[in-house]
Amino acid sequence: MNELIRLVYASKAAFRAVPVTQGVEPSVARILMQSRRNNSQVNIGGVLYFGDGYFFQALEGDRKVVNQAYQRIAADPRHREVTILSLKTVPDRLFADWSMKYVPVEQAVRAFVRDRGYLRFEPLQFQEEEAEALIKLFHQQRSGEAPDIEKKSGWFGLRALLPRKFGGSAGR
Ligand SMILES: Cc1cc2nc3c(=O)[nH]c(=O)nc-3n(C[C@H](O)[C@H](O)[C@H](O)COP(=O)(O)O)c2cc1C
Repeated sequence: MNELIRLVYASKAAFRAVPVTQGVEPSVARILMQSRRNNSQVNIGGVLYFGDGYFFQALEGDRKVVNQAYQRIAADPRHREVTILSLKTVPDRLFADWSMKYVPVEQAVRAFVRDRGYLRFEPLQFQEEEAEALIKLFHQQRSGEAPDIEKKSGWFGLRALLPRKFGGSAGR
């Protein structure tokens, strides 16, 4: 039988991030696009956070497929010091609706690290329990984007066209 796992790692970006006031940093946006295209093809998913020059990512899915993806990701020259923080067998995927959720939640992360006695976001230092707690926090966050399930069903696109009385958002 297939075994479902969640692998959480952190790494340091090898590029200098372009400051953005809105939206996603361009190099991160490219990574996100690649991740979504590839992950949806092999039925894995997860969540990605980028802050203070560090990546923090969870990959969920079949053990073998996640391991293969991780090997490829870890060898990517766009980051270094790639460090596994947690690897667990799980009963369900937390991010089942996402090929790769992106969480632009700097305030929430700032509060999280402060509460745990860190001066800044230093995910390479995280204990397994801290990594898991941050993943749970990301699970609770709304992302501002449509999850794959809405994109697939066409509901998200349809909603924008439908008037409100039919459950849409047009005319707001
Ligand atoms: C921080 C980071 C996260 C990444 N996450 C994923 C991912 O979830 N899935 C994936 O396929 N590639 C991911 N990549 C990209 C891979 O390292 C690699 O470039 C890509 O899979 C190559 O695919 P392609 O040959 O289709 O372009 C990530 C790269 C970085 C630096």
